[in-house]
Amino acid sequence: MPKENILIVDDEIVILNTSSEILRRAGYNVITVSSGEDGYEQLKAGEFDVVITDIKMSGMGGMTLIKKIREDVSADIPIIVITGHGTIDTAIESMKQGAQGFILKPFTPHELKSSVEDVIRKNDIIKENLRLKAFIPIFEMNKKLLSELDINSLLKSIVEESSRYTSSDRASLMLLEDDGSLILKASIGLEVDSDTAIRLKIGEGIAGWVAENREPLLLNEDSDIPQNLKDMMKSQEIRSALCIPIIIKEKLHGVLNLSKTTDSQPFTHSDMELVSVLCGQAAIALENSRLYGRVQYIYIGIIATLASAIEARDPYTAGHAIRMAEYSKGVAVKMGVSDREIETIYRAGILHDIGKIGIPDHILLKKGSLNEDEVRIMRDHPEIGGKILDKMDGLGDVAAIVRQHHTYFDGRNGLDNTKGKEILLGARIIAVADAFEAMTSVRPYKKAISVSEAVKELKKMSGSQFDPEVVDAFVDMLNLKEMI
Ligand SMILES: [Fe+2]
Ligand SMILES: [Fe+2]
Repeated sequence: MPKENILIVDDEIVILNTSSEILRRAGYNVITVSSGEDGYEQLKAGEFDVVITDIKMSGMGGMTLIKKIREDVSADIPIIVITGHGTIDTAIESMKQGAQGFILKPFTPHELKSSVEDVIRKNDIIKENLRLKAFIPIFEMNKKLLSELDINSLLKSIVEESSRYTSSDRASLMLLEDDGSLILKASIGLEVDSDTAIRLKIGEGIAGWVAENREPLLLNEDSDIPQNLKDMMKSQEIRSALCIPIIIKEKLHGVLNLSKTTDSQPFTHSDMELVSVLCGQAAIALENSRLYGRVQYIYIGIIATLASAIEARDPYTAGHAIRMAEYSKGVAVKMGVSDREIETIYRAGILHDIGKIGIPDHILLKKGSLNEDEVRIMRDHPEIGGKILDKMDGLGDVAAIVRQHHTYFDGRNGLDNTKGKEILLGARIIAVADAFEAMTSVRPYKKAISVSEAVKELKKMSGSQFDPEVVDAFVDMLNLKEMI
């Protein structure tokens, strides 16, 4: 049975009575009024699902009433017009003002009922569409966040996406530290000094309140909120603020803050609902990323153990992997690459010779120089290493560097027909560090040379075997470590 509330506005009492009787019998709740003015008052005071109004009435006419409903009451409540003066012009005019249905007097009970059913059905479809539309950002963000496993990029994405969907002027994400304070991890629109950590205690400020109460908070200028929060908003020129807790398995992990400044539209409850759902997705993505990081950490641990197993086979190369990782990281930092790339290059440094696992002892441990066949077998180790690492989830970038780590800058010795800057930066860095390591270490068949002699050699081969830019950065790094 329908139970929608219908308001009928007509100054003809017979029409009011018959229409309300027809609709009540059909199961609707009906209220009748006999003037446009009363209709407007009723609509402002109560909740209605459909309005049926006459056009020609003494006092406020139907057209004015429709206009006022659309302006002051509701942009989408369905309105049906009843008129005894049915012309196309009247129908068009009422539709223009925002009516959805039109009934001509005299009408049958069936005509009235089907008009009402029709506008309700159309309105339901429109509402459903809007509801589905509201899910689009959630789906899009979900897709984006769940595919992001790097924690820093993920934090940045959460801030960017939530700010975009709510047209916020400022957005920030604070995570809960072990000491119980909230620390700023990512932000947009805030003037933040990157050297100073922004911390809040639980209970302190707006974000601290949300962390303490684990409830979303919507603050607008007219909200009933404590004076200190109002003053805080004013001092930061915030007109409207939205603050949502990020909770994973009932444990608070952080708080997302969004704010709009003086000139923008304030946040609404539907913004709060949307961002709350987004924060739920963000929480899952954060948990995913943490688990992934943990798995990666275990992975790297296992592989590093493998690398040290190779070193154990050859006591002359003890500590080579970790020294290589440190040198390579130092050069990568010097060359100003991203944190993510630095991490990849560090890992590649540890694992670059993992392929030596496939080299027989009599070649790997040979005291004396290798013959031609042995050199050829030894040269397989970058490819073997690349294959081992390629099979490991998340180590594709490391595998590619390992594969190229013996490729000369001029293209000689390479596997992938790459030369110059086409060779991955990590591989160009490892090549320099590896040569330096080999020259400055003792081997069964040779003595170590001094750091300055090794640097001279690197410079000699700069441009042919090595990338000149990397050689320069490597020498700068040695200077920095006061090794020269
Ligand atoms: Fe190697
Ligand atoms: Fe090596």
